[in-house]
Amino acid sequence: MPLLSVDEVSVYYGRIAALRGLSVVVAEGSAIAVVGANGAGKSTLLRAISGLVEPSSGRIRFADHEIAGTPPHALARAGITHVPEGRGIFPSLTVRENLELVRARVGTDEASLADVFGLFPRLRERQTQRSGTLSGGEQQMLSLAMGLLARPRLLLVDEPSLGLAPILVQELFDVFRQLREQQVTLVIVEQYINVVLDVVDHVYLLEKGRLVRSGPPGEFASEDMASTYFGSAAMRRGHARRPGANALDPSNHLKVAFTAGELRRLKASARATGRDASSFVREASLDLRSNGPSSDPDERARSSAGQVTRQGQRSSEGGVVKP
Ligand SMILES: Nc1ncnc2c1ncn2[C@@H]1O[C@H](COP(=O)(O)OP(=O)(O)O)[C@@H](O)[C@H]1O
Ligand SMILES: [Mg+2]
Repeated sequence: MPLLSVDEVSVYYGRIAALRGLSVVVAEGSAIAVVGANGAGKSTLLRAISGLVEPSSGRIRFADHEIAGTPPHALARAGITHVPEGRGIFPSLTVRENLELVRARVGTDEASLADVFGLFPRLRERQTQRSGTLSGGEQQMLSLAMGLLARPRLLLVDEPSLGLAPILVQELFDVFRQLREQQVTLVIVEQYINVVLDVVDHVYLLEKGRLVRSGPPGEFASEDMASTYFGSAAMRRGHARRPGANALDPSNHLKVAFTAGELRRLKASARATGRDASSFVREASLDLRSNGPSSDPDERARSSAGQVTRQGQRSSEGGVVKP
């Protein structure tokens, strides 16, 4: 029985079909790569699994439960953590503050911090450094560390190598290998196959929302695959670009740590007083730490829900229109 099975799932954004009848299977403790060009539907697949978008058809099963249509906070609580594209860190906070913020949110103990520092010694050394001044690779490590604080059973990671120098990509993928040893099941999205080949058991190649090929990584190592899907030198140069301004948009960082309602309130307060979102986050985080978990059961559920919050893309919020 696989831990995750995505069965004939289709997702529409308005009239645009982002996924068309896609099926993917992941065994517990294994790792798969989902690769494909920009716009192939890779991020949409992760969003469907973590509940951020609702499939118009198809089934998604996780740990023996049908989960399509389940809200993201409930899925996060069940052990699905989604590390989104674009880092999701708070640049004005230190490394330690970023981690403490998430730790307060998910309610894990001090020991979990020690665990992630064990995986990322570089972050331990840089605890007091403002995270916006970390290198791209270190920021990616921090983003992953924040995801791991939720102690996921299934970890979804969107383009972790984006913008990183090859040496840092290696370091990052060493961490994925260690996570596999700890039986964390992994779905890694990448634009190019070459970076993931020796970390995963199975590769799924998407094109325009459809599966065009899947198999063990060895089958993807041939010459023709290399020129078609590994990316030319020019594409790789493009791949090594800095993440766009959007990736560092504070609202992206906010989405990672707060529920949609909290985010709306934070943004409204920021607008009302003309202050930047980060200082509000700092205050909110201190508030969380001093007040402890809420006694409201719904709020408690969300507090333990981990990283992923609703991004307003579900049909109930008007973002996703079924055909
Ligand atoms: N929020 C959205 N609204 C409308 N279209 C979207 C949205 N997100 C993605 N798309 C479209 O869905 C398709 C798949 O996108 P995405 O899953 O982000 O691909 P990938 O991650 O492989 O680059 C693309 O055509 C993209 O333009
Ligand atoms: Mg994407």
